[in-house]
Amino acid sequence: MVGGPDARLADRYARPIATDDLADQAIEAIEAIAGRHPGHRAVHAKGTLCAATFTATPEAALLSRAAHFAGGDVRAHVRFSNGSGNPSAPDYEPREGRGIATKFYLPDDSTTDVVGITLPAFFVNTVEGFLEFTRARRPDPETGEPDPDAIGKFIGDHPEALTAAGAVLTATPPESYLRCAYNALHAYRFVDGDGTSRYVRYRFEPEEGEASLTEEEAKERGPDYLQRDLADRLGRAPAAFTLSVQIAEDGDPTDDPTVVWPDERRRVELGRLEVTGLADDREQGDDVLVFDPTRVTDGIELSDDPIVRFRSDAYAASVLRRSGVARH
Ligand code: HEM
Repeated sequence: MVGGPDARLADRYARPIATDDLADQAIEAIEAIAGRHPGHRAVHAKGTLCAATFTATPEAALLSRAAHFAGGDVRAHVRFSNGSGNPSAPDYEPREGRGIATKFYLPDDSTTDVVGITLPAFFVNTVEGFLEFTRARRPDPETGEPDPDAIGKFIGDHPEALTAAGAVLTATPPESYLRCAYNALHAYRFVDGDGTSRYVRYRFEPEEGEASLTEEEAKERGPDYLQRDLADRLGRAPAAFTLSVQIAEDGDPTDDPTVVWPDERRRVELGRLEVTGLADDREQGDDVLVFDPTRVTDGIELSDDPIVRFRSDAYAASVLRRSGVARH
């Protein structure tokens, strides 16, 4: 590519960025919270990329004909991250969701992605709601702190945000990204070999169990303790997650990531994701790595959730800003 990423970035930032579409408005609202950090993701800016292997259970193939559920080992990348758009924010910040982003490399050389966070639900179920929510969290220019009245008003107007907001308020810093459970929140339609379909939601659970720290303990470990922990733990041994899905029943909303499905819904294990070490084979030089929750594959379809569809545009707008590459 001509000019390399730095030249493209300099060119990109020399020009005003269009504000006429919702994806750009979303990125601008996000940047008003944590600042603009050229070259970094608009949110989940700080993270670490790992190498992984996924091995499906026999049950997975009964639910979906997707190639990575057919059996055998599948190569994957996993990026763990903090939610903030500030790449220098300390890892001990308790009030945010941590992320997992997984990319499976399929036999036909295509890829498919699953992206999750440590919250049980999302804050909003419409694009307008996302813009309102993000704008409500803009820091007051005088204090540098979020305005509690604006957030209070948003929650008052949007009771659907209460589940996610409650989870953020009571969150404690994790001991390790490898000791968190993550939910992908959107429903996807799994289609099996016979064409039968059902709606599901993904969840990643750490084999070692969940573990968190007090804020004091996390601070003592330092501002980059989660990134260092990955290098330390994976330097000693791989760590694994169980990937499962919860299966919807009639009446469970499939287009609303703010609503948790009842706990008693059937859960099926899809496979084991073994994180084997830090990865240095991507995100080097001109390589632009993007985890997009709409990147599905035959056997997996999107639901009518407006948020998941909008995410693809918002991620593309972030990718353009961080790398100069127009569409991933
Ligand atoms: C309207 C809703 C949302 C918007 C506008 C949004 C926006 C973004 C943007 C702009 C990025 C950076 C993309 C890049 O530069 O590659 C990102 C990354 C991310 N988002 Fe979202 N997001 C939304 C909802 C969600 C939800 C519901 C989840 C969890 C289920 C989620 C989890 C993540 C994670 C884990 C990353 C980091 C991916 C990576 O490591 O590359 N986001 N989001």
